[in-house]
Amino acid sequence: MQKRRLGPCVTFFPQPTTIISTRSEAGEVNLMTASWAGIVSKTPPTMAVSLNQGRQTYENIRATGMFGVNGVPSSLVLEADLCGVRSGRDLDKLETCHLDVEEGSVLPVPLLQQSPLNVECRFDREIEIGDYRLILGEIVEIHAVEAAFDEDGTIDATVFDPLVYLGGVREYWSLGERCGVAYRDGLKLLE
Ligand SMILES: Cc1cc2nc3c(=O)[nH]c(=O)nc-3n(C[C@H](O)[C@H](O)[C@H](O)COP(=O)(O)O)c2cc1C
Repeated sequence: MQKRRLGPCVTFFPQPTTIISTRSEAGEVNLMTASWAGIVSKTPPTMAVSLNQGRQTYENIRATGMFGVNGVPSSLVLEADLCGVRSGRDLDKLETCHLDVEEGSVLPVPLLQQSPLNVECRFDREIEIGDYRLILGEIVEIHAVEAAFDEDGTIDATVFDPLVYLGGVREYWSLGERCGVAYRDGLKLLE
């Protein structure tokens, strides 16, 4: 495979598209799109999100000690993009996008109603990386849309229809077909 060197940069994909939901000290709810987000530990369940220190969202998390991470379905691609190009300092993104929040069940944290997957996080610690702050949050609860479960409790991932972000090329994609089963298919190479 012939390759071209890109140098040190941030071209890497796929990444999730998430919307981080927070409240300011004064109680104003804000939404911000983040693709540098993901689960980083199972014991204890931990979410990491990397935020530029200038974001309103960063200020809110430090002020309140909590945040929501909301999965974004592909139907919300325009709303997610707007929440990633305007700051809550300049625009009421909830009102502009016609989005709503509901309260978390463990923490008084706003969660995006229109998201099929909400994660309630309590601020744990931060790691400074240049202009960015890698925020680690303890996952205290996850809410998954009821419609995704069959009678055995098995989750149908297509219901979430997650919006995928391709960092570097700046494109949004939706998922294609399932092409394998994790923790199992690789074992076929041992046969
Ligand atoms: C697809 C996409 C992904 C983004 N991911 C991040 C991210 O992971 N971290 C970050 O600090 N900013 C990220 N941004 C930029 C912020 O969402 C943007 O600066 C936003 O206006 C900040 O909002 P706030 O000031 O209301 O918090 C992303 C933007 C887009 C469009």
